[in-house]
Amino acid sequence: MGTREVIEKGKYAHHTIKEIHEQSLTLLKPFQEFNDFQNFCEFMRNASNVYITGSGTSYNCGLLGKQLLSRFAKIKTEVIMSSEFQYYSDSLEPNSVVIAISQSGETADVLHSVKKAKENGAKILSIVNVPTSSLARMSDSILTLNCGPEIGVAATKSFMGQLMIVYKIVNILSSGQMPFDDFNQRDLLMMVKKVLSSDGIIQNLVSSLDTNIKDIYILGRSIHYPIALEGSLKIKELAYIHAEGIAAGELKHGPLALIDKESVVVVLNPIDETYQDVISSSNEIKSRGAHIIGISNKKNEVYDRFVELPDVDSYLYPILEIIPLQLMSYYLALKKQVDPDYPRNLAKSVTVK
Ligand code: AGP
Repeated sequence: MGTREVIEKGKYAHHTIKEIHEQSLTLLKPFQEFNDFQNFCEFMRNASNVYITGSGTSYNCGLLGKQLLSRFAKIKTEVIMSSEFQYYSDSLEPNSVVIAISQSGETADVLHSVKKAKENGAKILSIVNVPTSSLARMSDSILTLNCGPEIGVAATKSFMGQLMIVYKIVNILSSGQMPFDDFNQRDLLMMVKKVLSSDGIIQNLVSSLDTNIKDIYILGRSIHYPIALEGSLKIKELAYIHAEGIAAGELKHGPLALIDKESVVVVLNPIDETYQDVISSSNEIKSRGAHIIGISNKKNEVYDRFVELPDVDSYLYPILEIIPLQLMSYYLALKKQVDPDYPRNLAKSVTVK
């Protein structure tokens, strides 16, 4: 894909929606020869401790990485958001690796974290979109997303690329316990295209929502929780609506008090071991009169609205379920008549602390 082709909007009204749809083209771009996954994983194998750091969307990707590495590769990691990293760096053990995730590779908080980590003797592994970035140059090993320039301030296709890299790392370090070979990837690509084709359904869904929505809650357990956080970040920055990702099991520990008939609650609930618990939470919410949007491969009567996902291996659902949330955020921005490409007060790359 040429740079010019990527930067122009083509048939799309905004870069953001173009980049959301482009995900089917960029999904498999990290799997090219120049990305030495084995070398990257070797650093992880040789480390006594693995830390992950990043900001915003990149941090959310790190949270999913933690869960997958723990579950499939039995590797314990600590994920620290880059703006907080400096407060933990004194206790960094020798022989640690720090995986820094950053689309731009120029985020000041990330660079500062990496500088601190290096001072403590850690090796730096980075996942970047810009291989010539400052972060890449500070790293012992890098993996690149290769998804082309991302113009929209909200990260969409870069998040997808980050997820793909994380899945491949987990596949290697779990010795295939989590399958993610060429066959899985091609199959996944078809499913991503299928979910992207639900664009019109999401557009309709958003147009049926109240224009003055004040709060949107997104619920998910386990591997769906980082996606709930990422979806809520997208809604906040694109549509300026207060949105909160909630670990579904935490509802009763506080957030349930917020739920009333004005609330819109999205539940991420494909069939896996979390399904029934999330249905129970949905029933709790329903009895408070909230409007529930279910995103799942299985319909349930508790949902007022339903976004259907195709069937895939359960560990792959995060890759699919982020797409309706990205689309929802984009159409909410249009509904509110705000510019989705350049949200107020935000910069694409935050190069100051
Ligand atoms: C994502 O939609 C945001 N614009 C923001 O949170 C971003 O992910 C964060 O600033 C980190 O950027 P980076 O990946 O370039 O380091």
